[in-house]
Formats: sequence, structure tokens, C-alpha cells
Amino acid sequence: MARFENKTVLVTGGTSGIGLAAARRFAAEGARVFVTGRRQEALDQAVAEIGPAATGVRGDVADLADLDRVVAAIEKAGRGLDVVFANAGGGEFAAIEDITWQHYADTFNANVGGTIFTVQKALPLLNAGAAIVITSSNIDVKGVPAFSVYAASKAALRSFTRSWAAELTGRGIRVNSIAPGPIGTPGLSGLAPDAGAAEQLFEGLASGVPMGRLGTTDEVADPVLFLASDASSYLTGTELYVDGGASQV
Ligand SMILES: NC(=O)c1ccc[n+]([C@@H]2O[C@H](COP(=O)([O-])OP(=O)(O)OC[C@H]3O[C@@H](n4cnc5c(N)ncnc54)[C@H](OP(=O)(O)O)[C@@H]3O)[C@@H](O)[C@H]2O)c1
Repeated sequence: MARFENKTVLVTGGTSGIGLAAARRFAAEGARVFVTGRRQEALDQAVAEIGPAATGVRGDVADLADLDRVVAAIEKAGRGLDVVFANAGGGEFAAIEDITWQHYADTFNANVGGTIFTVQKALPLLNAGAAIVITSSNIDVKGVPAFSVYAASKAALRSFTRSWAAELTGRGIRVNSIAPGPIGTPGLSGLAPDAGAAEQLFEGLASGVPMGRLGTTDEVADPVLFLASDASSYLTGTELYVDGGASQV
């Protein structure tokens, strides 16, 4: 089944973890995929892994000039854009006493500003019936110690999903978000100082999930493709929790 034949897809943060898994799936289902990330080496490796349908454009979503280059590359290809998977982002632990202005700015610039301006700059290229999928987190409805700035940035994305869905429905563009729980990615293990601590972190996180385990990147990619496809044609402004029940049970 090639649900994305003749479709052009942008995946920000498509070089690792959830974004890379989604980019692979989009390509496997016929899409031409533009992937972004800040590290050139990781980008080259991801493009090689995804295959000939992939184009890599190096860029930081918190940098408007970089976003302009990404959009220019898609525009040059001449087919517009059918799916934006605004996924790039991340966070670091900081208890309230340790939050610095820099921590706040870095988190919000990448997660919130990066998403706002990725979507804004992609808008002129969007074809009729386009879909925007935003990576939030199930933390957007939860309180987790030492992760408050990250959680707030993701709650902002939950709110933008609703507002932009209302704003863009007139153009036939749907906007939805995905809210992963703990997913085994380099980004998640990178929160721990070393491999042993990462293992402990993963065990602790798994114990808080009703299904008793972390999710895989493919288990997030599948629902992303659902939200990006015509199978979800009556969904907009919604958020899909992909978290083994952690936020619901
Ligand atoms: N893993 C989880 O448990 C989990 C749970 C909920 C939500 N999420 C969200 O899922 C998304 C993907 O996370 P992941 O776990 O897959 O992490 P990951 O493995 O670290 O992948 C993150 C991707 O985003 C890129 N990226 C990060 N900051 C960027 C920036 N400022 N500009 C452009 N690209 C940037 C990274 O490439 P470069 O480093 O080269 O830029 C990489 O391609 C994030 O938004 C994260 O907050 C993850």
C-alpha cells in the first residue's frame, strides 16, 4: 500500500529517533521526504538510510534563515508540500531552583518557536488537503519533577494545535499532534549522563507505563502516518496519546 505516492513530506528532526522512523515509513509508502537536523553527519547517515526518496537539508528550527533554506529546497523541487511533521525538539532536566533564562530560552526557542516558524514558513507551499502533525508529549497533561520547562513547551504545542486547526480549516489543512510517552530513542537516553544511568531511567519510566514498557519509534511513526493520511480525514485539532496508557489509565 503506497498511501503517500506523489506526496511531498517534511520531517524536521528526521535524523534520529521518532523523526527518522517516521521519515523511513513515509518513504516506504511512496513519499518524497525532506528531512532536517542540525548535525550534517547525522543528516547524511539518515538520508542514506531512508534511501533515494530522501533529501537532507541541514538546519536548526530555532534559526529563521535555516528554515528559509529548508523551505527554498522544497519549493525548488516544485511539487509543493503535502505533510509537515514538525517534530524537532527536545529538553533537559532542570528543577525549579536550577532553571536559568538560557535553559528556558533554549527549550522554548527550539520546541515552541521552532514549531511556530516551521509551520508558518511551510504554509505558502502547502497543497490542498495537506496535513500538519506536531510532536508534543504526554507530559503536556502531566506534572513531572525537574522537567517543567519542557512540559510547558509541549503544552504550548497542544494549544497551537487547536488554534491552528481552527485557523487553517478554511484552506482544507488539518492540524493534529502526537503525544508520545517514553520512547526508546537517542534523545531519551541522552537525558542520562551515561549508559548505566540511561538503563535506570528507562526502567523507571517503564514502571510508570500501564503497558509496562517503553514504546518503539515505529509505534509512534504509525500513528503519525495515520494523522498525515486521508484515513484521518475528519480529525483536526486533536492530539493522539501514544504512551502505553500512561496518561489515560
Ligand atoms: N523519546 C521520547 O520519549 C519522547 C517523548 C515525548 C516526546 N518526544 C519528542 O519527540 C521529538 C523527537 O524526539 P526523539 O526522542 O526522537 O529525539 P532524538 O532521537 O534526539 O531526535 C531528535 C531529532 O531532532 C533534531 N533536532 C533537535 N533539536 C533540533 C533543532 N533545534 N533544530 C533542528 N533539528 C533538531 C535532532 O537532530 P540534531 O541533533 O542533529 O539537530 C534529531 O534529528 C521531540 O520533539 C521530543 O521532544 C520524545
